[in-house]
Amino acid sequence: MTDASVARFYDQLAADYHLIYGDWDGAVVRQGKALDALIRSALGAESGVAVLDCACGIGTQALGLAMLGHRVTGSDISAVAAERAAREAARRGLDLPTQAADMRSLPFEDAAFDVVVCADNALPHLLTAEDVRTALGEMRRVLRRDGLLLVSTRPYDEIRQAHPVSTSPQTHGSGRERSITFQLWDWHEDGERYDLEHFQLLPEGDDWRVAVRRTTYWALTRHQLTGFVTDAGFHEPAWLLPEATSFFQPLLAARVP
Ligand SMILES: C[S@@+](CC[C@H](N)C(=O)[O-])C[C@H]1O[C@@H](n2cnc3c(N)ncnc32)[C@H](O)[C@@H]1O
Repeated sequence: MTDASVARFYDQLAADYHLIYGDWDGAVVRQGKALDALIRSALGAESGVAVLDCACGIGTQALGLAMLGHRVTGSDISAVAAERAAREAARRGLDLPTQAADMRSLPFEDAAFDVVVCADNALPHLLTAEDVRTALGEMRRVLRRDGLLLVSTRPYDEIRQAHPVSTSPQTHGSGRERSITFQLWDWHEDGERYDLEHFQLLPEGDDWRVAVRRTTYWALTRHQLTGFVTDAGFHEPAWLLPEATSFFQPLLAARVP
């Protein structure tokens, strides 16, 4: 899977990305609140801090954090998704500068941010140890001393036990406006990576239009990702599970020494 094809996958999905959620606006608020609580307690911050969301997509986490007073910058390998995030922010009266950028080469100054967020399974798009190390090295570089890294992934420890071949359908909207999103997964022989077919059934007149997009993920276990984060020079890595954070995915928090 080339970088261009990951960017193309999300460029093509950007206009319909919110359909992945039953209620995207609600998810923006919920995810923002959960991350904000973690940030404020970890940094002891009473006012907003400088946050980079280095895989901001259309802004699910970035918008929620900006609503709560953080100074958020968004970047994403998909230019179309990053542009939509900025538009969604403007529509809500929020300031959210965004740009197209690969997390392996971040166009920001050293130590420019208090927090780097890389949420909802963005890092597992990198398929080699070298790429994961490069990206985490960049996140560390743009974080200030004692800055906070927050990375969320699917619960891959459990998923690697079961090797599921599909996800449950998610519906959005109702009646003639209803759409359905689900994924088919095809595991590689290594048992760690899988090709994904992303299906969206979209209403078209009395019928359905089917959009299918393909990409590949590396299902990193919590142990694997902790190792990469430690190798990149972060310390105090800690996995925070949804029961404790109200965030919908396991989150790895770590600090710059
Ligand atoms: C599942 S989406 C999540 C997006 C966003 N965090 C959200 O929840 O709406 C994964 C995101 O990772 C981005 N991504 C994948 N590889 C990337 C890379 N090398 N650099 C920056 N972004 C990347 C994709 O373009 C996509 O927007």
